[in-house]
Amino acid sequence: MAVVDFSMVFLVVIALLFNAAASQSTGYTNHTVGGPAGWFFNIATQKASSDYSAWAAKQTFNLGDYLIFSTNTNQTVIQTYNETTYKNCTMDEASDDDTFQFQGGSNEFGKAMTIAVPLTVEGQQYYFSGADDGTQCLNGMAFEIKVGHGKGLPPSLNQPPPPPYVEPPSTIEDAESPPITVVGSRPNGGVRSSAELFLAVPVLVMLVLHLV
Ligand SMILES: *[C@@H]1O[C@H](CO)[C@@H](O)[C@H](O)[C@H]1NC(C)=O
Ligand SMILES: *[C@@H]1O[C@H](CO)[C@@H](O)[C@H](O)[C@H]1NC(C)=O
Ligand SMILES: *[C@@H]1O[C@H](CO)[C@@H](O)[C@H](O)[C@H]1NC(C)=O
Ligand SMILES: *[C@@H]1O[C@H](CO)[C@@H](O)[C@H](O)[C@H]1NC(C)=O
Repeated sequence: MAVVDFSMVFLVVIALLFNAAASQSTGYTNHTVGGPAGWFFNIATQKASSDYSAWAAKQTFNLGDYLIFSTNTNQTVIQTYNETTYKNCTMDEASDDDTFQFQGGSNEFGKAMTIAVPLTVEGQQYYFSGADDGTQCLNGMAFEIKVGHGKGLPPSLNQPPPPPYVEPPSTIEDAESPPITVVGSRPNGGVRSSAELFLAVPVLVMLVLHLV
């Protein structure tokens, strides 16, 4: 009897530990681009360090995941939603709306650098190296991914949109200045959004706790 009881306790403890571990995981994935090889190009051999398209094809990308580019300051990462820009391996003619360049912000050459790119938009998107005037991109420093909805954006990445709605209330004092109608309609929207947020956060927390 004692032995049976002991093993039951053991199983319960294991189950509890498993549950705790599961609740700690966020459900979002950080994808290290190219795996251990990172995001590098060998100038001498004119070869990419990894087969990035093959790597990407094996991953499942969802909103809230991050692409982690493990690289150095000699490299750049260009993100685009525009297939033409991607195929052309240059952002020279790209629009600021659909193409972004990520850099480490260091002028020093060859310094280790990690670029974390959050996936905040669903659908097809493209990444390539802007280094060496497109030569690296043409030689494999490029890949495309498709971002699914998954669990949707976490609050930490969902925050950027609210600020424009929160800002207007400070201009209420200036209500006598000409653009009354434009400014007037915004503060209400802002107040409502933040009130909804205040309600939504505890409800979400309770839901999560309930699920656990
Ligand atoms: C994923 O990367 C982001 C950005 O660097 C970081 O904030 C987050 O903690 C990482 N998550 C995990 C599970 O490593
Ligand atoms: C593609 O890039 C070349 C230069 O590399 C440029 O001349 C051409 O106009 C570009 N085409 C498009 C469609 O952007
Ligand atoms: C992609 O970018 C090119 C400029 O490089 C632009 O002419 C084209 O309209 C863009 N395509 C889309 C779908 O926005
Ligand atoms: C980075 O680029 C500089 C200048 O082209 C080069 O001298 C250096 O060897 C490169 N470093 C690495 C780590 O690739």
